[in-house]
Amino acid sequence: MLLRSVVKVANSRSIIFYQNIQLALLTRNSSLLSHFKGGVIELSKRWKYVQHKGVKGIRNNKSAYEAAAKDDSDDVIKMHDDLENEGNCNASLNLDDSAYEELASSAMHIISGSLTQNVFVIQPYIKWGNERNTLITPDDQLEEAKALVESLPNWNVSHAIKVPLESLNRKSLFGSGKIEELKQQLKDHKSKQTITCIFISKSTLSFGQKRFLEDTFKLPILDRYSVVIQILRLHATSAEARLQVAMAEIPYIWAQAKDANPTLSRKQGYSITDTQREILKSRERKLKQELERIRDHRKLLRKKRKQKNYPVIAVVGYTNAGKTSLIKALTQEQSMKPRNQLFATLDVTAHAGMLPCSLEVLYMDTVGFMSDLPTGLIECFVATLEDAMLADIIIHVQDVSHRCREAQQQHVLTTLQALQNTVGGTQQMPPIINVGNKADLLSSQTEAQALKDMHFVSATQHKGLRELLEEIEQKILTATGRRKMTLRVRNGGAEVAWLYKNTAVTNVCADETSAEHLLMSVVISELTMEHFKRTFLWAKQK
Ligand code: GTP
Repeated sequence: MLLRSVVKVANSRSIIFYQNIQLALLTRNSSLLSHFKGGVIELSKRWKYVQHKGVKGIRNNKSAYEAAAKDDSDDVIKMHDDLENEGNCNASLNLDDSAYEELASSAMHIISGSLTQNVFVIQPYIKWGNERNTLITPDDQLEEAKALVESLPNWNVSHAIKVPLESLNRKSLFGSGKIEELKQQLKDHKSKQTITCIFISKSTLSFGQKRFLEDTFKLPILDRYSVVIQILRLHATSAEARLQVAMAEIPYIWAQAKDANPTLSRKQGYSITDTQREILKSRERKLKQELERIRDHRKLLRKKRKQKNYPVIAVVGYTNAGKTSLIKALTQEQSMKPRNQLFATLDVTAHAGMLPCSLEVLYMDTVGFMSDLPTGLIECFVATLEDAMLADIIIHVQDVSHRCREAQQQHVLTTLQALQNTVGGTQQMPPIINVGNKADLLSSQTEAQALKDMHFVSATQHKGLRELLEEIEQKILTATGRRKMTLRVRNGGAEVAWLYKNTAVTNVCADETSAEHLLMSVVISELTMEHFKRTFLWAKQK
């Protein structure tokens, strides 16, 4: 009876005049988004970012109540640490197996990081017909091929050309006239600089195509799969990423081995002995087991996160679009290091951030997508991308300054849809917020105006973040069934501590009508509200 009249539910906006009354119990968010000047977000100096391993947390000066709430956040940090430690404890599988390395090197032309490579890049493309790529021009494909090469340290593009073809499937790939032309070009370039290999920017070349071209040009031939594998090997530092990359290599080696003629000697081409076949099979089996174990562990972490009620925001996008930079800008996490490299991020990592309404959320940084990569390669990252597909909302970061933004957007959406069908089952795709990053590089406003339904931001210049945060907040509240409310509670009562622990407190002020009461503005889920009522309202009524 008493509490029925005490708990007053109102929209926080309707009691805004109370904000003038400053109490000792200042809420955490009141200082977070302190100033927005001309679209530039400035975070209050009061906020301090404490670096943790794995998940990074945001903390400010704590009241006693906030200290109690902190325990929950530390659980998230611990969860992520558990996963990292477990991955690092992976001693059962020795990835550095020299017999396997020999096999992989000959199948994929793995080249030691310290050797300088002068690469002749060839971008084949279909000029006419159904197979023609209508989304991305051959020039842009060539640019992406060059960027892949330049992502590797000590690798330089010596020369880069596009070659129109009628089909990508003929054994010699090119016609005889084109082959003579290419031989001449190689000869001309070799006289100026030693060419060490040829990169043919096609997702995969068959063993037959590779062998023919290697015999013809007398140089190692690499396709997109093998170049991307070298980049992934270089960037995979965590145990989990290394396992995924190791797994991604296996289908390629099998495909090349199946295509190979076993009667040929190693010198003539890539063939595989029975012992090597066994090595490959056993490695594949063990990797599958390890990845399955990691997948189960991730499921457990997701379950724990759900129990803790942290809203999760997956940040996805084409490689190099600025995903890491955006998370860094939204969380102010200084330790994050965005790099101008393709596939810089290979791990799904969680980063704590806070919405304007004071709600703590987790941003998941994910592996970047790229077109014209075989599905086998992407499948190996499914275990980590699952986290993204099962998030509450997705932020799709796009580089608006890139000429191929539209093609990249289409590619990401198609891949997300395919992933959704694999992992999401009947579950619907989470709501997507489109973010046009690198808006600072746009030459005119007209370019920006042409793109509808997109938030324009500059992650590096911290522009447009306030509007984005508001949109994230609105989408998260809807997706997770949370709402903003104001509750009238006893000053110093157990309810105050409870609300600090179980909800996001937006504001606290004195109740002008009663010195014994406070008005607490909170963001609360339906379930937590029921819990609150059970604990404080109904319990008292009994
Ligand atoms: P991957 O991990 O490879 O998928 O990349 P990513 O999408 O996480 O991109 P990342 O944040 O690492 O940024 C890639 C490059 O773009 C870096 O050199 C950033 O400094 C740059 N960059 C990111 N955001 C912006 C921006 O708003 N403006 C400009 N000019 N550069 C940006």
